[in-house]
Amino acid sequence: MKRLLVFLLFNIGFGVSPAQAGGMNILQEQCASCHALYGPAPQTLSQFKARQGPDFFYAGNKYRKAWLVQWLQNPKRIRPAGIFYRDHIKPGEKRDEIDLSTLKPHIILDKSSAESVAEALMQLKANSELIAGAAFVPAGASLGEMSFDKFYGCLGCHQIEPGYGGLSGPEVYTAARRLTPEYMSSFIANPQAWDPKTLMPKRDLQEGNIRNLVNYMLDLSKEDWDEK
Ligand code: HEC
Ligand code: HEC
Repeated sequence: MKRLLVFLLFNIGFGVSPAQAGGMNILQEQCASCHALYGPAPQTLSQFKARQGPDFFYAGNKYRKAWLVQWLQNPKRIRPAGIFYRDHIKPGEKRDEIDLSTLKPHIILDKSSAESVAEALMQLKANSELIAGAAFVPAGASLGEMSFDKFYGCLGCHQIEPGYGGLSGPEVYTAARRLTPEYMSSFIANPQAWDPKTLMPKRDLQEGNIRNLVNYMLDLSKEDWDEK
């Protein structure tokens, strides 16, 4: 009854569509144990280590809605060794290997739940001021690849194709399908502004460098990785 009342108040009071309210319900009941719906991001190491999944309180500034709808119905691993790769690595013959048996599959939603959850996630708009400063200019991806692999050492933590690259960060060959270019630019410019304890180092990058890197990731995402 209480939930119904909140639901009704939500709809009448704030002009929220039923899909959004339904999506918010799902998020609160099935997702909030692992994904933070409210900020701020972890400020201490112990808060950071307690995190079970990516934060969602700025989801509307981070994700592409169409990708969310798709992924929620057919989730595929994005961080090859989970949120904390150290928990999922075992010593291998030549180098460390991912211990897949310790990684659990993600919850799957049906189409209509996926759509209403995506709708609700788009309303979570913290950190808009960080996005506002991140103008994105499309350009060729030349130099981006060299910068990513060699100059800035991004490859040490991110895979640029399945099985090639570091394991501690999310794969970047699908990043541009998942993320808005403004978020990528802003996060690369200053990862700690989004997530104070993130392991990704802040580099002193010029606007042009960032543009090259983001355009490189846009190019990577155009390949049909599912076929490979
Ligand atoms: C048991 C913990 C857990 C629960 C419950 C959970 N998730 Fe997740 N979620 C994760 C983890 C861990 C990842 C990272 C997966 C990866 O990198 O492959 C993730 C990733 C995601 C992503 C991709 C985001 C990104 O930046 O990579 C979305 C979207 C998502 N979850 C939505 C949901 C929704 C919606 C629900 C509720 C219906 C939910 N999750 C419930 C743990 C959880
Ligand atoms: C020391 C390891 C490390 C290095 C080096 C590094 N990153 Fe990251 N990167 C991370 C981690 C960790 C995250 C955030 C993880 C998360 O959301 O789970 C991240 C997140 C990202 C994201 C957002 C991805 C997503 O799916 O949310 C992009 C884009 C990115 N990095 C690009 C770069 C670029 C470009 C460079 C080089 C200038 C770089 N990274 C260097 C570890 C690293």
